[in-house]
Amino acid sequence: MMWLPCGCTSKYLFTSLSRRIVKYYHDFSGKSSNVLACMPEAASFEGVWDHSGLYEFSVGHTDSFWGAAARHRLTWISPFRSVQDCDLRRGTIRWFEGGKLNVSVNCLDRHVHTFPDRVALIWERDEPGTEVKVTYRQLLEATCRLGNLLRRHGVNRGDCVTIYMPPCPAAVVSMLACARIGAAHSVVFAGFSAEALADRIRDAQSRIVITVNQGVRGGKVTELKQTVDLAIQSCPSVQKVFVAMRTESPVVMTARDIAMEEEMQTEDVVCEPAAMDSEDVLFLLYTSGSTGKPKGLVHTQAGYLLYASLTHRCVFNYHDEDVFGCVADIGWITGHSYSVYGPLANGGTTVLFESTPIYPDPGRYWEMVQRLKINQFYGAPTAIRLLLKYGDHWVHKYDRSTLKTLGSVGEPINTEAWEWYHRVVGDGRCPVVDTWWQTETGGICIAPRPSAPNAEIVPGMAMRPFFGIRPVLMDSEGKVLTSNNTSGALCIAQPWPGMARTIHNNHQRFIETYCQPYPGYFFTGDGAYRSKEGYYQIIGRLDDVINVSGHRIGTAELEDVLNQSPMVAESAVIGYSHEVKGQAVYAFVVLKKEVDVQEADLVRQLKDMVSKNIAKYACPDFIQCVQRLPKTRSGKIMRRVLRKVVERDLDGLGDLSTLDNPAAVQEVIQGHRDLC
Ligand code: PRX
Repeated sequence: MMWLPCGCTSKYLFTSLSRRIVKYYHDFSGKSSNVLACMPEAASFEGVWDHSGLYEFSVGHTDSFWGAAARHRLTWISPFRSVQDCDLRRGTIRWFEGGKLNVSVNCLDRHVHTFPDRVALIWERDEPGTEVKVTYRQLLEATCRLGNLLRRHGVNRGDCVTIYMPPCPAAVVSMLACARIGAAHSVVFAGFSAEALADRIRDAQSRIVITVNQGVRGGKVTELKQTVDLAIQSCPSVQKVFVAMRTESPVVMTARDIAMEEEMQTEDVVCEPAAMDSEDVLFLLYTSGSTGKPKGLVHTQAGYLLYASLTHRCVFNYHDEDVFGCVADIGWITGHSYSVYGPLANGGTTVLFESTPIYPDPGRYWEMVQRLKINQFYGAPTAIRLLLKYGDHWVHKYDRSTLKTLGSVGEPINTEAWEWYHRVVGDGRCPVVDTWWQTETGGICIAPRPSAPNAEIVPGMAMRPFFGIRPVLMDSEGKVLTSNNTSGALCIAQPWPGMARTIHNNHQRFIETYCQPYPGYFFTGDGAYRSKEGYYQIIGRLDDVINVSGHRIGTAELEDVLNQSPMVAESAVIGYSHEVKGQAVYAFVVLKKEVDVQEADLVRQLKDMVSKNIAKYACPDFIQCVQRLPKTRSGKIMRRVLRKVVERDLDGLGDLSTLDNPAAVQEVIQGHRDLC
């Protein structure tokens, strides 16, 4: 391997490259019918008769490809003038300018005209067997009622509403009601602490927060309304809190609070949709970066919806009346694109999963697949790794014959997990699609594309770029690597409609993070390998972002929290390979001189601080006290050295000549041995 990323996530990845290639043969009658089944608008593209032809067309004739897709897939109030006006060097991205549309109309009204009673949402509640189904007609009515209510409370086009809710129909209604009236939404994962929620509300300057009285997950109740109450004490912008009832437990309501369902009853079921410009903001979604505080990535209306809809249709081979089971939380981009916007734009039936993979037992996913007759299942490798440890009998107990495609997202899927997913869960007959993408990309960018006839699938590889995506690998000098069997920094060479447009309130950071590292290219922050066949495999982050169970955490963000402790002088956080979580957090802390504390108390206090300031999942698995951190003479912490110590790769410590304090390394090694 020529080029190693600093954040290479797992040892086992490269062992998978020589693995056998699994071939899938789909019984499509002819190449052209297959391509048209996935994308009927391709009929107008001259000379395109198979998937690779369509891909070449999509990257070579971008305007024709996306123009046709946008006209065919979206319902417009007025047509767009130009397909795109983008400049990756300057970070200006505009698609379908001049066009007007409403996202909620595209997700609801047009389907209500054709199949009002089709089930849009299946709310898979925490207790198995208590699912609730919502039809398109019901979803439209609820969306209109809430849209009217929001308008009555002064929400205007362009405002940003914060939604702090677990996956449930009320959350989807909230997202779509915002879209209906032209407000942006910012969904904050309901596992985030009051502090983290407050940061996001303040950054978005929301006047309205929508929440539920309580959350229920894995048999446990969480007091979400109380968390909102705490958060908004430091959010002067908030004027109203809408409270939906997930449980029957009453909560304290103040003059600022609105009983959402009750008030919605008095509203009209018709709500005039706002005619939105293609490039108006649809939502902000906060995610961690390598430095500073989380960034609010901005996605806009038409391009995002089109991209979510086309990827949902093609990558998963989704067909009308299939039941799509994405088990991600709606607080992440996967929930936005593949629980809500993609499936609803396609008139699909989508599952909202409220529970955990092991509640009430490790058969939960597969019992749900049987009961809801799920056709496409989309989950995270961390859950697969966890479940395979419990044994095959939890899977075999249930009928999974409805399954057609199995998806994986969020982190690299290792061979063992891939094989188990394919062989045990899918009975060896369902393609496993390892989908690579990011909050920034809006939708899937690299995936095996199983709907192509005879498409081979290599275990653990995302493989092929989606239509319109031109991946490139860069070497450490910023040059494009043209050969195969090589690895480098993964960039995307031309804009696509689903990409984020900016970082809320900080376009400069957007440019610096994504556009400047490799001018003219979008830099993903990931490293990738391209095999000799030209297939892509994602290695992991190149920056100081850790991926814990598919959740992004910035090391700087964590250090910031640890350093706030009155006991801590400084800290350094790294990610290390973890059997189930993919990566886990390891923190080194230097205590202030005068501090005298029992290690167990210190660890408890610091973990509490991380839970309180960010979320439980961000807690370090290990906290090691050190006298000092290994630093360069210019004072930079040598994280590479810390990472090697934790990975027990002492031979790989590398060049230590720039170290200012060589004794620090020995201390770190000794302390690590004592701790683990
Ligand atoms: O490092 C990549 C990893 O997750 C990051 C994006 O995280 P987030 O914005 O939270 O979105 C997650 C869900 C799309 C990427 O930069 N990642 C995502 N999918 C994969 C992956 N790593 C390897 N293989 C994947 N399939």
